[in-house]
Amino acid sequence: MALYDTIGRGYGRLRRPDPRIAAPILRALEGEATLVNVGAGTGSYEPRDRRLVAVEPSMVMIRQRDADAAPAVRATATSLPFRDESFDASLAILTIHHWGDLPRGLEELRRAARRKVVILTFDPDVEGFWLNDYFPEIPEIDRRSMPTLSELRRHLGRMAVFDVPVPHDCTDGFLGAYWRRPWAYLSAEVRSAISIFSKLPSLEDGVASLRRDLASGEWQRRHGHLLERYSIDLGYRLVVA
Ligand SMILES: C[S@@+](CC[C@H](N)C(=O)[O-])C[C@H]1O[C@@H](n2cnc3c(N)ncnc32)[C@H](O)[C@@H]1O
Repeated sequence: MALYDTIGRGYGRLRRPDPRIAAPILRALEGEATLVNVGAGTGSYEPRDRRLVAVEPSMVMIRQRDADAAPAVRATATSLPFRDESFDASLAILTIHHWGDLPRGLEELRRAARRKVVILTFDPDVEGFWLNDYFPEIPEIDRRSMPTLSELRRHLGRMAVFDVPVPHDCTDGFLGAYWRRPWAYLSAEVRSAISIFSKLPSLEDGVASLRRDLASGEWQRRHGHLLERYSIDLGYRLVVA
């Protein structure tokens, strides 16, 4: 059973595409008329004015796509059911760390696209997010599941990399979205739309420790300066190959 068939139920509500994150993705896709969106989920960030096919293994995610969203094929990245160069560009947003065989999946993205591969991912070499103080397993899991930029370059060849800062009121509730709203991480509902929380052995300890620090003012003492910031670079990167 696909992981998102278990954890994906509230996805459409909690993971609404953020226009400030959409902007660089749409810029990267400018001029590309046909697209495949792999690991497409509920359809976030899919341009509505192109011919697009979504690829997604989880029925729970597919069922949350809007009625007028692009058609979705139930398949995985490692075996895309398309002929070579069927699309101008292939797209993969916050999904590659879930793929069982990443090199194969990246090869499939290249094979299906005539011109361009566009990936939104997280660079595991970027450290320093305060949340990791409470959940120290997060960077370890990231390092196991997220490719470094040099690994991606090995598979994709020449590529441009753009920083994607996270706005303080980001509407797409991924892991880093609530960096300026620390109370949000205390909510089981918020955590349910963030896959890494389903993998943390000491989840409850981390939540209790964050709750204590927020109540005592310790979090504010250590990280209160962040409350002045509009956006922050946590390591999210747009890769265009
Ligand atoms: C964090 S969600 C991202 C969904 C969407 N791209 C977005 O930006 O909202 C990760 C998605 O990757 C999908 N996924 C997991 N394993 C996959 C695989 N092997 N091939 C393709 N997609 C996969 C999940 O089902 C889920 O929909």
